[in-house]
Amino acid sequence: MEYFSVVQSLCRIGLESPTPQFRKQVERLRDRLVADGDEKSAAALSRLLAGGASEQTMAPSAVEVSRSLVTGDELTSNVHPPSDRETSVALAEVVLEPGAGKPAPIFTETLQIALDAMLNEWRQAAALRAAGVEPSRSCLIYGPPGTGKTLSAFWLASQLRLPIVNARIDGLVSSFLGTTARNIANLFSFANRYRCMLVLDEFDALAKMRDDPHEVGEIKRVVNTLLQNLDGRANTGLTIAITNHDTLLDSAVWRRFQNHIRIDLPDERTRISMLQTFLTPLEIEEDVVKALAFIVGGRSGSDLKNFTDALKRVLALGAVKVSSAVVIEAAKSLVPRMGIDTGESSPGRLFVEDEPSFVGALLSSGLGIKQESVATMLGHSQPTISRYRKEYAGRRAN
Ligand SMILES: Nc1ncnc2c1ncn2[C@@H]1O[C@H](COP(=O)(O)OP(=O)(O)OP(=O)(O)O)[C@@H](O)[C@H]1O
Ligand SMILES: [Mg+2]
Repeated sequence: MEYFSVVQSLCRIGLESPTPQFRKQVERLRDRLVADGDEKSAAALSRLLAGGASEQTMAPSAVEVSRSLVTGDELTSNVHPPSDRETSVALAEVVLEPGAGKPAPIFTETLQIALDAMLNEWRQAAALRAAGVEPSRSCLIYGPPGTGKTLSAFWLASQLRLPIVNARIDGLVSSFLGTTARNIANLFSFANRYRCMLVLDEFDALAKMRDDPHEVGEIKRVVNTLLQNLDGRANTGLTIAITNHDTLLDSAVWRRFQNHIRIDLPDERTRISMLQTFLTPLEIEEDVVKALAFIVGGRSGSDLKNFTDALKRVLALGAVKVSSAVVIEAAKSLVPRMGIDTGESSPGRLFVEDEPSFVGALLSSGLGIKQESVATMLGHSQPTISRYRKEYAGRRAN
């Protein structure tokens, strides 16, 4: 075929992040070449479609997942996930663009390094295999509620440009005896057929069934089915399970996952960057953001998002220009209704009830907030702030 090398390059580029329509056209071209007797060119296109060639030409920094790692039919909006036979409820949701409309998660440096390392492994399967080692394929994400576990699974998939088959395990647990095991088997065979990341959210729902005395026989069967299906998928695609209750999972389940990532409540630095991000587009002084992080204390990302949304609403309804003092005043009105810790001597309590001690605690918190910023936030003179600080230090020393 004339100009085949150019056509081949075009196909290679297009297939690096193909739309279903593009793939279809390449398949059509390959079929025409076969019909014309040009077996050699057809075979080259078949290789590109299978992903082998794009993997070889992929730079190490390529953003997509290795095509040889995650294979299978392409998911499209026409593909429907299986459903529970009795209730007709879908067993999973297909998310073609997991990153759409979702913010990038904000994590501690250590956690980000761990996630990046996992991504790297999945992007460079060929390099790993050349070194004689198989890339990992599974990950269990666990930790307290609202810390960004589901968000990270979606982020990982979007970084790899992979669609997600998102199953909530509690949706698979059927009230009909015997149906749960069948649902699990159907879900896995669906996920194994398509090129995707399988996400098993609320993974502990199965473990929780154990507490129900009526379910003893059923739960054994279900757990066995789950373990068998996880084993069956050990060499297929990527699988991420998520749970809030890691202690409920037994070791047989843990062993099925090659990576275990704990997402904890954010540390102070991470809380500050979360607040900074969540507060955009408002332009708020860094010292004010630090003071807010101090006031809200050790809360999850989800709590912080909720707090900043509420703060934005209060500010939007206030008819004044946003300034440090206005933000702090708005935050004060939120403390009683945002579940912020107001236990004895907590920053939340001092903030609303004992300003001098709040100032002292804030300035000795190690956050590096400037005295003049505190004076502006609270509408006091610098000498007053200085006096509060000294008095607080004096009280602490006694
Ligand atoms: N680390 C984070 N970075 C950015 N946003 C976060 C983070 N953690 C939580 N959020 C915010 O909270 C929301 C809820 O997060 P997500 O659903 O991922 O939490 P989760 O850990 O899965 O909670 P649960 O255990 O209750 O299912 C997110 O959509 C986001 O707005
Ligand atoms: Mg979640």
